[in-house]
Amino acid sequence: MSRWLVTGAGGMLGQDVVTCLERDGETALALTRADLDITDRAAVTAAFLGYRPDIVVNCAAWTAVDEAEAHEDEAFGVNGRGARLVAAACAGSSARLIHISTDYVFAGDARRPYTEHDRCGPRTAYGRTKLAGERAVTELLPGSGYIVRTAWLYGAQGPNFVRTMIGLERTRETVDVVDDQHGQPTWTMDVAGQVIALGRSRAPAGVYHATSSGETTWFGFAREIFRLLGADTGRVRPVSSGAYPRPAPRPANSVLGHGAWASAGIEPIPGWQLRLHQGFPSLTFA
Ligand SMILES: NC(=O)c1ccc[n+]([C@@H]2O[C@H](COP(=O)([O-])OP(=O)(O)OC[C@H]3O[C@@H](n4cnc5c(N)ncnc54)[C@H](OP(=O)(O)O)[C@@H]3O)[C@@H](O)[C@H]2O)c1
Repeated sequence: MSRWLVTGAGGMLGQDVVTCLERDGETALALTRADLDITDRAAVTAAFLGYRPDIVVNCAAWTAVDEAEAHEDEAFGVNGRGARLVAAACAGSSARLIHISTDYVFAGDARRPYTEHDRCGPRTAYGRTKLAGERAVTELLPGSGYIVRTAWLYGAQGPNFVRTMIGLERTRETVDVVDDQHGQPTWTMDVAGQVIALGRSRAPAGVYHATSSGETTWFGFAREIFRLLGADTGRVRPVSSGAYPRPAPRPANSVLGHGAWASAGIEPIPGWQLRLHQGFPSLTFA
């Protein structure tokens, strides 16, 4: 049986990866930021020597997309240098690495879903730092590094769009939501499932896209949440991105293609609506 190590285990995705590993009977060491700072070379080395993992899932990241614009060096410290330290430790110990990345590595202006092999061209500081992490993994672990890009995550464990909409449904008569950004709402438990399937497989190293199938806009996503709450979907009103200027521009197209899973013998995540319906009861936000 493999020994799994999860970094960033206190985050929204990290917690669900650990839950799924434990549910599936795997042996896993869950390290939160307090347990292991991935920017601390000596700490990373000590963690690997002490535990000797077979598979590492790097969920640790600077995820504050807007703040990264003014603090790119700090974001790079975690997403670029930290990822490189984890990849180097894997290379030095023969552990395989599953590194979590993002649609923000793309420019977001394509008129079709991005494939795993499409050119990257990040337009935000966050995207640049995440791409640096990807490149470190590809360089140091050409035969044993997996880059799992995801997007539009929601889960029971962290702040996210579903939680925000549930709160707004309770407190506002109408809610304006952008209708010109396209993506695939994705449940963290589904990403965790793909990660575990990948770790258990003999899949070729490389890039995999762990997002739900299908696509919608934030407006479509919000309407579906209102529908599941039994609320009037007419209370959700479409607006353009211009209504919500942000320091980091949001991609117009975050839709990712899922072709690589076939080479791994793993099914992609099913449609976003089905999974939102199935996951909704477990998203028990206070
Ligand atoms: N959320 C999304 O919609 C989304 C979309 C695309 C890709 N992703 C990717 O998915 C992964 C997981 O994201 P998430 O949504 O679970 O974010 P999250 O909840 O912010 O989790 C990230 C975790 O990393 C920890 N961390 C930060 N700096 C660290 C360091 N130096 N050493 C160790 N741990 C550190 C954070 O701890 P603190 O909270 O204490 O800082 C946090 O627990 C990331 O790679 C992210 O880029 C997320």
